[in-house]
Amino acid sequence: MVFFSRVINWLDERFPIKAFYKKQFSEYYVPKNLNAMYVFGVLAMLLLFNQLITGIWLAMSYTPTAANAFASIQYIMRDVPYGWLIRYMHTTGASALFIVLYIHLLRGLMYGSYQRPRELVWLLGMTLYFIIMIEAFMGYLLPWGQMSYWGAQVITSLFGSIPVIGKGLEQWVRGDYLVSGVTLGRFYALHIIAFPILMVFLVYLHLSTLRHVGSNNPQGVDIKKHVNKKGVPLDSIPFSPYFITKDILAIAVFLFLFCVVIFFFPDGFGFILEKSNFEPANPLITPEHIEAAWYFSPFYAMLRAITFSLFGLDAKFLGMVVMMSSVLIVFFVPWLDKSPVRSIRYKGYLSKCFLGLFVVSFLVLAVMGSLPVSKATTWISQFATLGYFSYFLLMPWYSRFETTKPVPERVSL
Ligand code: HEM
Repeated sequence: MVFFSRVINWLDERFPIKAFYKKQFSEYYVPKNLNAMYVFGVLAMLLLFNQLITGIWLAMSYTPTAANAFASIQYIMRDVPYGWLIRYMHTTGASALFIVLYIHLLRGLMYGSYQRPRELVWLLGMTLYFIIMIEAFMGYLLPWGQMSYWGAQVITSLFGSIPVIGKGLEQWVRGDYLVSGVTLGRFYALHIIAFPILMVFLVYLHLSTLRHVGSNNPQGVDIKKHVNKKGVPLDSIPFSPYFITKDILAIAVFLFLFCVVIFFFPDGFGFILEKSNFEPANPLITPEHIEAAWYFSPFYAMLRAITFSLFGLDAKFLGMVVMMSSVLIVFFVPWLDKSPVRSIRYKGYLSKCFLGLFVVSFLVLAVMGSLPVSKATTWISQFATLGYFSYFLLMPWYSRFETTKPVPERVSL
């Protein structure tokens, strides 16, 4: 203990770590009513860290060429010591990151965390989500299995549907006429270098802006209105040790569940590792049913839901526009929500019903996107797409006109 404090003092004389700890942790005050929904941010950070570390180790034995990529994954799984563990941590980590992010996002929508003054926190969070989607899409090509190949082929072909510039853009993205070793090489470079740097930088910005304005809370009460003589909000607790303890408990529970999946269900019943991805990529054989990874499934369902052309624009292009808009529209929530209150607890019935409709539509789309196309899946996807968009597009209307409950002055537990 004496040795430890001596080391800290030695460091502190050269770099102000005590002042840093005070400012960022022990004298950083968070609302005292933060609930379990507030642990998903730290879990997202943990998972991003897991992806970076396991990714570096995978890159040591992986070969990014069309001839050897698939075999190098087999080599990692069978011959590299603990290679199977590192790969499963990476594949399961990717799925877990999306689960955690969807809950993190839902929390934001429920408690109005995007409202003034946290608009920038929201925009940076959404940018991060968009970058993570592209990162996951590029990573999915690397095992060079049938689904990797055909998934990339379908999604990159969407560029080709853009009028005038489409065909050129499609070839530019692929670096070839079809998805090939050239595409694999560029996706690899972007996946392991460019996007990870971008993601770390965006997490830093996301958290810095949050630290500047402070956390919202489940009641959406502004805790900065009531402060003591030292300027500390009366309804707050120091982040360290109180909230850190809660985070550590959440991490322990999460790691337990994470290990259960890694050790007992590493393929996640075909959702984490798709069955057809156990076959090497074959450009001459198209699989009967091309699936998107489960976390893209709702967006894929919206792409497939558009089966008609309009104003001379073909269905494929319109599908892509709808799919892109479904992500872009989430960026605008801070300006679509006109409610005088933040939290869903004090909003009216319409907000509650539309949020429910949004969640149900998203889940229905996720199921539809994973099933083979049929008349029924197309119809259901079309209705669910309407449900998804109506939550956002009608928000300026229902959030302004509904009756809200009064928000308490102080937080209650
Ligand atoms: C890897 C991606 C992300 C990481 C590492 C991350 C990390 C965090 C952390 C650590 C917090 C503080 C703890 C908490 O409130 O849970 C936070 C808060 C927040 N995040 Fe994220 N986040 C990510 C993605 C997103 C996304 C996609 C959004 C959605 C737009 C988002 C929106 C927010 C908002 C609005 C807050 C403030 C919540 C409040 O105060 O009520 N974040 N984030």
